[in-house]
Amino acid sequence: MTAGDAEDSGIAPPGDPGTSIADLRAEPVAPAPPAVVVDRFPNAAALLGRYAQWLAGAGTVRGLLGPREVPRLWERHILNSVALAELLPPDVRLVDIGTGAGLPGLAVACVRPDVQVDLVESLLRRTDYLAEVVSDLGLADRVRVIRGRAEDSAVVDAVGSTAFVTARAVAPLDRLVRWSFPLLRPGGSLLALKGSTAERELTENRTALRRLRAEVVGVEECGEGLVDPLTRVVHLIRR
Ligand SMILES: C[S@@+](CC[C@H](N)C(=O)[O-])C[C@H]1O[C@@H](n2cnc3c(N)ncnc32)[C@H](O)[C@@H]1O
Repeated sequence: MTAGDAEDSGIAPPGDPGTSIADLRAEPVAPAPPAVVVDRFPNAAALLGRYAQWLAGAGTVRGLLGPREVPRLWERHILNSVALAELLPPDVRLVDIGTGAGLPGLAVACVRPDVQVDLVESLLRRTDYLAEVVSDLGLADRVRVIRGRAEDSAVVDAVGSTAFVTARAVAPLDRLVRWSFPLLRPGGSLLALKGSTAERELTENRTALRRLRAEVVGVEECGEGLVDPLTRVVHLIRR
């Protein structure tokens, strides 16, 4: 029996006898921000907390994030993304391709008021969600939501010539380079969050990267004292 069946029949659903249908349907609540968030980002902690609740709540209800991710929302998702801000100089624009629920781009925007962020996502359901979140967080003056595939010419026209492209859990490295380099101005950087596969992907794609005129800066680790494990970023420059 599903909760819906139970409601229709008026019969109490299986599970905790004290749990009402309303409780079962309540949106998951985000865990409180870890102390390090308040220490490191005193001016952005409330904003990050609000974003965390969007991820845990509407994000899980609408299928952008698995419910099992909620307990590890901060370390695995938000702080893993926020750490990337260390690699950004002041006053830049970044384009986050395949942003999904806004990771890493929107998390970075929360802690870096000097940075403009374009969130590129191909699925309408996700861009609708992102537009609501960006508006609710009061970030619409410097965060744009663009629906389309990163490699589409309309997207290149809308967000091209940027200094930074970011991507997390979107595609293998060679494909990311093909999608992101047309968006970068010469000398611009692709920052690809790759975790434990970073070195292997660099090695496996060495020939393709040379052909695509990518200069390999290397694997950068960031988030010391903020997140464990550290965020691992493949840094490539468009020649
Ligand atoms: C696995 S999710 C990762 C989302 C987010 N970056 C994260 O780390 O949670 C990959 C996302 O990339 C989007 N996507 C895949 N290919 C894309 C493309 N070529 N252009 C734009 N978005 C793309 C998908 O729709 C999906 O939302």
